[in-house]
Amino acid sequence: MPAPDHSAYFAFRDQLLGPLRTTILTGEQLCEAGRLIYGDPSGLSLYGIPAPDMTAKGITLLGRTAIECSVDAYTAPVADTLAMLQAATPPHGPDTAKPLIVDLFCGSGNFGHHLGQRLSRPVHASELDPAVYTTTRKNLDRVGSAIELHLLDYRDLLGKLPARSTHDTYVVEPPWGPAFTAAGLDLTRTAPPVPEILNDIRRSRDGLPCHIAIKTNDHIAHDSLTRSFTGARHLATITPQPSLPHGANMDFHLYELTD
Ligand SMILES: C[S@@+](CC[C@H](N)C(=O)[O-])C[C@H]1O[C@@H](n2cnc3c(N)ncnc32)[C@H](O)[C@@H]1O
Repeated sequence: MPAPDHSAYFAFRDQLLGPLRTTILTGEQLCEAGRLIYGDPSGLSLYGIPAPDMTAKGITLLGRTAIECSVDAYTAPVADTLAMLQAATPPHGPDTAKPLIVDLFCGSGNFGHHLGQRLSRPVHASELDPAVYTTTRKNLDRVGSAIELHLLDYRDLLGKLPARSTHDTYVVEPPWGPAFTAAGLDLTRTAPPVPEILNDIRRSRDGLPCHIAIKTNDHIAHDSLTRSFTGARHLATITPQPSLPHGANMDFHLYELTD
């Protein structure tokens, strides 16, 4: 059987990250993104709303967010896994009753949305791009999300949130930019690099361990995931059903970050 032709996906991806980067997509473009990325228009689903219903429900997405986002079918199982892991380990720290969820590079905010819902906790989020921030703010209002969203650099948000509990959880999904090449994803070259982000988190926590959720693709370059998390404890990897060629599919990883 001939290999499926994914050239339309790669061409659309270039459009979404290029000329359509900060353009609000039409309903048709949202469905096209779902079809090309996930094999079905409804595969692009955020806050429980699939692409074919987004326009009617007042949900808008910029080109960049349509390609960068972590969709419902990915984030819900990650939230379930984290809930199971945390239920199995008693927390410790100065405020175990109110562990933090912090979506540091929130984009659509969908990752924080699912973690907050599944763990029944408030969520803090930072987004630096004003266009993404404005769109996400409106979407979160539309779905009645209580995410506390800040137009801020993630370092400034970390500075506002002292550690509470060993169950505090940080979502780390920086833009990939030049880190994503045919040789794979090099997490030491994301913007900012993942090891730098992890050190910023460590510095904000005065030695108290925490949990990290991170998205990668399915082709990591130079062992950069393991190297970025040196000294951390791997807890789980969640691999959604692949829909694209090797290197273009997503994986999610949970770690315990220690000092
Ligand atoms: C890969 S996307 C995150 C996608 C997101 N997890 C989702 O589900 O939609 C990265 C986001 O981080 C934002 N960003 C980049 N640098 C940042 C920084 N220093 N602080 C906060 N946000 C930043 C970008 O504007 C972009 O929207």
